[in-house]
Amino acid sequence: MWHVSLCIAATIMVSFTHWVYRWRNPRCNGNLPPGSMGWPLLGETLHFFAPNPTWDTPPFLKHRIKRYGSVFRTSLVGRPVIVSTDSDLNYMIFQQEGQLFQSWYPDSFTEVFGRQNVGSLHGYMYKYLKNMVLYLFGPESLKKMLHEVESVAATALEKWAGQESVELKEATANMIFDLTAKKLISYDPEKSSENLRESFVDFIKGLISFPLDIPGTAYHKCLQGRKKAMKMLKNMLEDRRANPRKVKTDFFDYVLEELDRGDSILTEAIALDLMFVLLFASFETTSLAITVAVKLLRDNPRALQELTEEHENILRNRENKESGLTWKEYKSMAFTFQLINETVRLANIVPGVFRKALKDVKFKGYTIPAGWAVMVCPPAVHLNPVNYKDPLEFNPWRWERMDQKGASKNFMAFGGGMRFCVGTDFTKVQMAVFLHCLVTKYRWQTVRGGEIVRTPGLQFPNGFHVKITERQTESKSNTRI
Ligand code: HEM
Ligand SMILES: *[C@@H]1O[C@H](CO)[C@@H](O)[C@H](O)[C@H]1NC(C)=O
Repeated sequence: MWHVSLCIAATIMVSFTHWVYRWRNPRCNGNLPPGSMGWPLLGETLHFFAPNPTWDTPPFLKHRIKRYGSVFRTSLVGRPVIVSTDSDLNYMIFQQEGQLFQSWYPDSFTEVFGRQNVGSLHGYMYKYLKNMVLYLFGPESLKKMLHEVESVAATALEKWAGQESVELKEATANMIFDLTAKKLISYDPEKSSENLRESFVDFIKGLISFPLDIPGTAYHKCLQGRKKAMKMLKNMLEDRRANPRKVKTDFFDYVLEELDRGDSILTEAIALDLMFVLLFASFETTSLAITVAVKLLRDNPRALQELTEEHENILRNRENKESGLTWKEYKSMAFTFQLINETVRLANIVPGVFRKALKDVKFKGYTIPAGWAVMVCPPAVHLNPVNYKDPLEFNPWRWERMDQKGASKNFMAFGGGMRFCVGTDFTKVQMAVFLHCLVTKYRWQTVRGGEIVRTPGLQFPNGFHVKITERQTESKSNTRI
């Protein structure tokens, strides 16, 4: 009897050892990039999620780049992953979308964004959705939206200036959320019994956290938040179906019309997932970018001064003093756009973009095996001194000298290639208009907070509390003489 147990034990031992060996040394028809697969199952997940309180490249990447070079292998949340911090490879991955690589997100992501979210869709359906989003957030819509964006920002700032202090991240998130929700689904927080924004707050807190779904974890709260928000969106859509409106103006109208057509490829589930992604993407990313910009301006008086001059000039040269910002004025904000590029370069709001290799891909002597996940890391490119001199310095002027070719290869805050962020123009309008209203009329002081932490998503753990006051216009006219 004992030798049978021994045989079983030995078999288990051998299989286990073999499994661990395979885990550490995955199969590859070629030269796998160097790296460590970490612990069985857990991989190097914990290192990846370790908090980093600086603007610099996360230590997870830094240590491995130093040891293995710019392309290496690892294992995150149970998946083998090739990490690319190489400008050329990143560029190639973006350009090869649908050919050698395809947009792919970890299960924990599809769980929180929905299985039918744009990031997980390909081909025809993807193009259809992309056109729909561009219709909503493209330049033509934004031109029409400009006045509303300005009046929303001006009203918000006026309100905040009357307060002892305001937490800028939360406040700008609310501002943009209300505007987007109004545009997309005519949501009016004053008139609604449930608070849609609140379920998004829970959702965001657990986003890009360790994906452990048990009560008490951030990830669990995140899923609960999504569930609640999705239920509300579904109810609103049902409500609209029951009470159709005469004049069709928002995204719900558009979706219902498509669904009723019968031959449309759009389904209710896809429409709701898209609505959720758009609401989330529009306010969370942009409010982070605005908060980072205001914080960096506070520490760089020269940049603040040049920005103020640019926007005062717009007001000074305006023929009709009663009119608001025009599209032409918006397009003329040269320094503002440099400042926006520099802000998102340093902010690195999106720490990783995921793809899957569709075929074995050769790159600089290595092979990325078909089926493997690939993580493109914008921070490593944005903070590499080869691409940007003194990369940790906030220097909007560096964009004056940036040649376009270098800029497109070494700037990937909004992704690249076919899946380039569809919200880029929306973000730029929001940021530029908000900064216009802010610097022409107000100044601000830090009350508390403003520290950042990356886990690896960017957060302000203590918020960024500022006191906003109206500018002394007296001294302004003095300095001009
Ligand atoms: C500072 C602000 C923003 C940053 C840094 C940012 C970043 C990105 C990045 C890096 C991607 C590429 C993802 C990939 O290749 O897989 C992306 C895609 C996307 N973004 Fe943004 N984004 C911002 C604002 C917005 C806004 C305001 C919206 C909505 C109006 C938006 C909607 C989307 C959507 C729907 C996609 C998916 C596009 C696709 O899969 O083709 N983003 N964004
Ligand atoms: C900002 O970056 C984009 C993308 O590379 C580039 O096309 C644009 O010209 C840059 N803007 C400025 C003002 O340098």
